[in-house]
Amino acid sequence: IGQIKADDETPGLAVYDPGFVNTASCRSAVTFIDGDKGILEYRGYPIEQLAEKSNFLEVSYLLIHGDLPTKEQYDAWVHEITYHTFVHENVRDFMEGFRYDAHPMGMLLASVGALSTFYPESRNISDSDNRHMQIVRLIAKMPTLGAWSFRHAQGKPYVYPDNDLSYTENFLGMLFKMSERKFEADPRLVKALDVLFILHADHEQNCSTNAVRSVGSSQVDPYSATAAGIAALYGPLHGGANESVLRMLRRIGSVDKIPEFIDGVKNGKEKLMGFGHRVYKNFDPRAKIIKKACDDVFEVTGVNPLLEIAQELEKIALEDEYFIKRKLYPNVDFYSGLIYEALQFPPEMFTVLFAIGRTPGWLAQWHELVQDKEQKIARPKQIYTGERTRDFVPASERW
Ligand code: ACO
Repeated sequence: IGQIKADDETPGLAVYDPGFVNTASCRSAVTFIDGDKGILEYRGYPIEQLAEKSNFLEVSYLLIHGDLPTKEQYDAWVHEITYHTFVHENVRDFMEGFRYDAHPMGMLLASVGALSTFYPESRNISDSDNRHMQIVRLIAKMPTLGAWSFRHAQGKPYVYPDNDLSYTENFLGMLFKMSERKFEADPRLVKALDVLFILHADHEQNCSTNAVRSVGSSQVDPYSATAAGIAALYGPLHGGANESVLRMLRRIGSVDKIPEFIDGVKNGKEKLMGFGHRVYKNFDPRAKIIKKACDDVFEVTGVNPLLEIAQELEKIALEDEYFIKRKLYPNVDFYSGLIYEALQFPPEMFTVLFAIGRTPGWLAQWHELVQDKEQKIARPKQIYTGERTRDFVPASERW
């Protein structure tokens, strides 16, 4: 639709843009992406450097505050997050009430939403100390809720946080601890998962972040806005591609079946899952980093036979005219499922892992939104395609 603003009654120029693919919904200083050059930066820092030299909690600080912390700021931040990892016992009771086979992402969505009722002061979003407190709580409690959702479906007792451990090792402990002994994970596995969290920490205005901003624009509390982000991520088009990659690799079954599979893709029978991206048209910088994490994890866990198929598939596709012409390269999901599987996560946990990693990004964007004087309540236009004015006929006369 095009309409030029003529007077106060007419809205000005409006466009029809399904999915808002060409509409900037906000100004943001959090994450920069150049899809053609394969650049991803958080607050100006290249993702490659953050993945190699930082850790997830420092990256969370950076995303939320805009700059890297001093030593004192970092220590205080880690202390605060660590201190808030426990959740109220009634949240635990609430989670225990779910069906025995509840999907962990559904449990996470509901329990994060429920947190708003435990912290009613979170509704006062104009107070900056208050906002900070809720941001800390959310980043701190996500691994606890995520791990308990996982234990629930397995019928295993919930494990409380062990705050002597690092953020990521503590999460692994709450997931996999099987005895009273102190939990210890191989540092290479902890590092790999931490890197995966960093890679997923923000990706500017993706579907779930847009959901957080859209819901947050009503000035609701950050728990409810984050629950909206989790709901968006729950959908298979957003958070589910790595699971599809694993299914695809299993279906291919062996390296000699790859050419036949590629022919099917080229004939439009199916998609090569984990390839292509709406924004990255040369390469996805996260995919390069993940490949390295994959090597590190398999060094500890032993090689997954699917890795050989994945590597060969990538090699063949990258040399094939079909994929070259369409600028199709491996995306972040091509290898992440293999790593998660090697770390013993079942596929239904993959999106929970994504949600934990994305939480600081959602909150950084939410925090930016609530301080942005230009922001308005999200309320897009529509093009109405239904009936126009009709006279209502009562049921007694219609039937
Ligand atoms: N395999 C085979 N062909 C593909 C693939 C693929 N994975 N992706 C795109 N194409 C083809 C399309 O069929 C189209 O071909 P055509 O020009 O002959 O019609 C062309 O490449 C352009 O594709 P579009 O669908 O227009 O690209 P778009 O940017 O809209 O889609 C998307 C991006 C959705 C990621 C797509 O590449 C895809 O479905 N990939 C597989 C699923 C996947 O890996 N998703 C994860 C994305 S990363 C993330 O969400 C964290």
